Amino acid sequence: MRRPHNAMFNQNAFKLGLFSPNCSGGMAVTTVPERWDASWENNLRLAQLADAAGIEFLLPIARWAGYGGATDFQGDSLETITWAAGLLAHTQRISVFATAHAAFLHPLMAAKQFATIDHLAGGRFGLNIVCGWNQPEYEMFGLTLPADHATRYRYGQEWWDIIRQVWENPGSADWDGEFFKLKGARCSPRPHGHTLPPVMNAGSSSEGREFAARNCDFLFTVMIDPERGKADVAHIQALARARYQRELAVFTTTYVVCRPTRREAEEYHHHYAVTHADGPAVERLMQLQGLHAQSFPPAMIDALRVQFAGGHGVYPLVGDPDFVAEEIARIHQAGYAGATLAFVDYAAELPYFVAEVLPRLVARGLRSA
Ligand SMILES: Cc1cc2nc3c(=O)[nH]c(=O)nc-3n(C[C@H](O)[C@H](O)[C@H](O)COP(=O)(O)O)c2cc1C
Repeated sequence: MRRPHNAMFNQNAFKLGLFSPNCSGGMAVTTVPERWDASWENNLRLAQLADAAGIEFLLPIARWAGYGGATDFQGDSLETITWAAGLLAHTQRISVFATAHAAFLHPLMAAKQFATIDHLAGGRFGLNIVCGWNQPEYEMFGLTLPADHATRYRYGQEWWDIIRQVWENPGSADWDGEFFKLKGARCSPRPHGHTLPPVMNAGSSSEGREFAARNCDFLFTVMIDPERGKADVAHIQALARARYQRELAVFTTTYVVCRPTRREAEEYHHHYAVTHADGPAVERLMQLQGLHAQSFPPAMIDALRVQFAGGHGVYPLVGDPDFVAEEIARIHQAGYAGATLAFVDYAAELPYFVAEVLPRLVARGLRSA
């Protein structure tokens, strides 16, 4: 176990985190008035609720421009590195990730900032490395998103190699790489306890998965359903073992509507994700994610549209507490080591999940009380 004080390495068989609370709307592309307001006060309140409930981690989305529509979905977003620092200063146990676009942040600046946060957090910091996909955001920074994944991930690899180099080797060293030429590069202090923080990425291309297998503790993937996910998990773990002799934990990402009855949950889901979906923002999100480029049958497009409005296209957990716990158990059985959760109004809905679903996961042996 690398960092016993970091919740990402605790004994729970299935770990849970909250995804995207730093962005307005969170994951739900909806106009309902209770949609998530990503104010600092709300983020702090939510982080402290999650910390007290034993949730393992918070994962932000690094977003630089919203998706338009009536709500400009994710148009307000708290910058993730400074957000993580603030939340870690106000919590006790939870691990908080920062999400870094390798291309937008110089690796020596990143190394210093991450080490600083890790110190103030007593080693609870975590890092999500993004190698790029969103072309308009690159244009906003005056950068060209490389067309090929190989270049995106080669850049990410060099960026991360520089950070590791200055963290693992005290003293100064020159760097002569493809993308960076550095003289006397160094970073002191090194991260807490001179150990690496937990590192994740969420690549879905073969290059992205290779990057995870080589460098990361955790790969986050979008799952169609647990049956198909099972083969995906087995495949990526076999790759990490065969090529890099590494163990890689695979997480997935979900959104939750949990109510006392399945009918109430489904009605609320229909209310916010169908009747009050922010249609133009959903279209823009799906278009940017490249889904319109693929030839789905119309019925499938419609199903996905609801899932995108409901929670950014990730796996829905919509039902009563028994159903939600049963679904999480199926995800665990497929080989996943954890999942992210998102709610329309995180702070209002998390307490019900904590009171009703967590004990059911404890009863199934997936988590300790
Ligand atoms: C759980 C999760 C978190 C992600 N976080 C971000 C993020 O914060 N910002 C971002 O621009 N992309 C984010 N991504 C996109 C991935 O980093 C990745 O680029 C995408 O899945 C496409 O994979 P590829 O890069 O291999 O093509 C995330 C994806 C997932 C599934």
